[in-house]
Amino acid sequence: MATAATHQTARTLAQDGQDGQDGTQADVDDTAAYERAFDAAVAADERVEPRDWMPDAYRATLVRQIAQHAHSEIIGMQPEANWITRAPSLRRKAILMAKVQDEAGHGLYLYSAAETLGTGREELLDKLHTGRQKYSSIFNYPTLTWADVGAIGWLVDGAAITNQVPLCRCSYGPYARAMVRICKEESFHQRQGYELLLALSRGTPEQHAMAQDAVDRWWWPSLMMFGPPDDESAHSAQSMAWKIKRHSNDELRQRFVDICVPQAESLGLTLPDPDLRWNEEREHHDFGPIDWTEFWDVLKGNGPCNEQRITQRRRAHDEGAWVREAASAYAAKHSASGAGRGVEQA
Ligand code: 3HC
Repeated sequence: MATAATHQTARTLAQDGQDGQDGTQADVDDTAAYERAFDAAVAADERVEPRDWMPDAYRATLVRQIAQHAHSEIIGMQPEANWITRAPSLRRKAILMAKVQDEAGHGLYLYSAAETLGTGREELLDKLHTGRQKYSSIFNYPTLTWADVGAIGWLVDGAAITNQVPLCRCSYGPYARAMVRICKEESFHQRQGYELLLALSRGTPEQHAMAQDAVDRWWWPSLMMFGPPDDESAHSAQSMAWKIKRHSNDELRQRFVDICVPQAESLGLTLPDPDLRWNEEREHHDFGPIDWTEFWDVLKGNGPCNEQRITQRRRAHDEGAWVREAASAYAAKHSASGAGRGVEQA
């Protein structure tokens, strides 16, 4: 088996201009060699880096997943930002503002990771705004009460962590490294949601009921976040072979259910599933059927808030045009004066 150094050499040959790619037999042989080196590197758990040779389909899969992930982060700011002006105390307001800002930051890391694959941010945002790329189904549900902020933190950020911790070991370096930082911040988000729900659950009967109602509404959509069941997941098998995904959708969903059951008990809240029970034989919790018709319907654009989310996103983008123009003008001025200084010094 080739060593790590051999994989690296073969993978970077393409970048060094040694593959003419003009259709000759030598080019075909080169491509086969790059493919073998890529497969060996992935099998050996090496990281693929932006300048390495990679199959077109691997690149396209990463752009699709990272873009969807980035879009989810920035669209996800909307349901929670809805409560910033109505947070019940200064402390809660400061926490929520910090959390929503973190989500914007996550979007930026992820758009940057996608850019390392050669796809510009403008193009990705255009695809989001015109419905050609998706964002997570979960953000098409409304935040009706203050307790929803807690339920999103506990369940939605909790599901995101369960899904994203394995992505820290994704085969593509820039995505994996972005996920390390994102997961640290998501852990804080999950804790603040849990703490908020605990305060409500132990509060007045009305507050307890509000917390329970939020959990009842967010539980099933949170389970849908992990994607369709394995036998309907179009991309899982290939993404797992490439070590982009490390676990299947159903495996992660089961892990999340097992984590949540004892946490719900400590919160003094129930999960809205009469079929939820421990299975001695499987050593996992059994749970009831998920309404996949609802999931696919939300993906088609028919969820309660799809239209509102995308309209608001387009408006924010248009209204922010002057900021992008000002930032570009400032950067251009700065680099021009920087270049000038460079010439003088030379
Ligand atoms: N919402 C919207 N679309 C979904 C989805 C969901 N919850 N789950 C799956 N899909 C889509 C897929 O994108 C795919 O559609 P496409 O072919 O048009 O791209 C189709 O349904 C089939 O699903 P697959 O299982 O074949 O797709 P994947 O292999 O890509 O798996 C995934 C789906 C598990 C979501 C995977 O893409 C993934 O792990 N992505 C990274 C994590 C992510 O995007 N999280 C966003 C949610 S939360 C968040 O980030 C914000 C945080 O602050 C809470």
